Amino acid sequence: MAAPGGGGSCFVLGASGETGRVLLRELCAQRPFSRVTVIGRRQLSLPEGSGVAVEQAVVDFERLAEHADAFRGHDVGFCCLGTTRSKAGADGFVRVDRDYVAKAAELARAGGCKHFVLQSSQHANENSSFLYLRVKGEVEKLVEAVGFDRCTILRPAMLLCARQECRPTEWIMQKVLRFSSLFFPTAYSVPVETVARAMVASVLQPSGEKVEVLENKAIHQRGKAAPQPGT
Ligand SMILES: NC(=O)c1ccc[n+]([C@@H]2O[C@H](COP(=O)([O-])OP(=O)(O)OC[C@H]3O[C@@H](n4cnc5c(N)ncnc54)[C@H](OP(=O)(O)O)[C@@H]3O)[C@@H](O)[C@H]2O)c1
Repeated sequence: MAAPGGGGSCFVLGASGETGRVLLRELCAQRPFSRVTVIGRRQLSLPEGSGVAVEQAVVDFERLAEHADAFRGHDVGFCCLGTTRSKAGADGFVRVDRDYVAKAAELARAGGCKHFVLQSSQHANENSSFLYLRVKGEVEKLVEAVGFDRCTILRPAMLLCARQECRPTEWIMQKVLRFSSLFFPTAYSVPVETVARAMVASVLQPSGEKVEVLENKAIHQRGKAAPQPGT
């Protein structure tokens, strides 16, 4: 288990995305690890001056096995990787959200990683007739089967964020759900900040379970209980 201001190392997949970006910020603010490796397909400008050594590994996800070094020597792996069917097509979506994630988990385990923290989705179900939910259910099972000492799966509902990428349908949904969150705060949506804090909190507290699944309400609870900025 990591501790605030502790040593150790973690990696982050998807650190350029909406959740991953906030997660990286939280890891630098709360400092549960002294070293963070961002593993992605392109070079990013990294946060400096936090006291955490943030490194970067640029990898070809189609040849992930050739980048086994990037996954070696980490205590914890965080995964916020993902694309959409409209952006990558059905096959591309399966490749990124299932195959890349499962391969990364295998390499991480082989490299000594003990705890994998996966951002999945509300209603993930390997038997679903909806491609998105089925793939999320499948990737959960594949990651569980890798056999980490500990595996935390988060199943957030609609993410609330100021998305950099243009996704018109999601933009409209976010408007509606921001309003509905005034009445049903933990049912249909969750801010990315809450997801990121829940991910960090998960490595800071012990769990009796080898595989722990956090549904949306539990993500809210864990994320809210975590240290807030400036505290
Ligand atoms: N949107 C929602 O409301 C929602 C709800 C529940 C769960 N989720 C899930 O939560 C996770 C994170 O979502 P998010 O919205 O924070 O992510 P996001 O902003 O879409 O970012 C996705 C990340 O995946 C990387 N990525 C995408 N395609 C890739 C590819 N072909 N090769 C390598 N890397 C690739 C991106 O890298 P680049 O920057 O290089 O593209 C980025 O770092 C996803 O799995 C998503 O399905 C989303």
